Amino acid sequence: MKVVITESYEKLSRMAADIIAGAVKEKPDCVLGLATGSSPVGTYRELIRKYKNGETDFSRVKTVNLDEYVGLAPDHPQSYRYFMDRNLFDSINIDKANTRVPDGLAADTAAFCEEYDAYIASLGGIDVQLLGIGVDGHIGFNEPGDCFIAGTHVAELDDSTIEANSRFFESRRDVPRTAITMGMKSILCAKKIVLIASGENKKNVLLEALHGDVTPKVPASVLQLHPDVTVIYSDKI
Ligand code: F6R
Repeated sequence: MKVVITESYEKLSRMAADIIAGAVKEKPDCVLGLATGSSPVGTYRELIRKYKNGETDFSRVKTVNLDEYVGLAPDHPQSYRYFMDRNLFDSINIDKANTRVPDGLAADTAAFCEEYDAYIASLGGIDVQLLGIGVDGHIGFNEPGDCFIAGTHVAELDDSTIEANSRFFESRRDVPRTAITMGMKSILCAKKIVLIASGENKKNVLLEALHGDVTPKVPASVLQLHPDVTVIYSDKI
């Protein structure tokens, strides 16, 4: 595992974007696993800049997102589909048909989860997976628990996650209680993983994930088992 400490969020974002753009250059039809939230906003801004500069061509890239709130429609301003469109896809030359975000409105979530895993497998897996980390150590919405869950599944959000994400909603009450999340198998099968985190409030959980026991109580600790992980951290947000 490579751990990089940077002095600013901007530098963190540039480094993450460089890794992703490098992967796209090497394999123009690569599969990117993408995250939402505050952490990747700067990375996406950099990727947009690289596209506009003519440095990066996304025309053949495919993407799969980690997660989506159950019950939110794609055009809901807090849905992760809406986030991805506004923060990245609408500003680069990606074919939207090649972008997948779990369907928060799926009527049969179990069938949807199976289909999502089958889709990722049909792409040959993920080349580069971008991750953030929750204050409780979650990756995607794989929340702390008694076991790691392999497949895409519906997760109950932890109180700390609901609290943390309430900043995006009008009130805590409006935060969905469940989400569809990619499981650990698709994440760990990614050829390369880039985890970005910023802010003092992520420091302790990150140290625990990187240096503590590998345990489902700290879901990100599973990354210790992966052969190609780069963690980029800045205490500045
Ligand atoms: C979002 C996701 C989550 C976030 C995590 C950190 O798609 O998978 O695991 O990465 O909750 O969120 P931020 O970056 O908002 O602190």
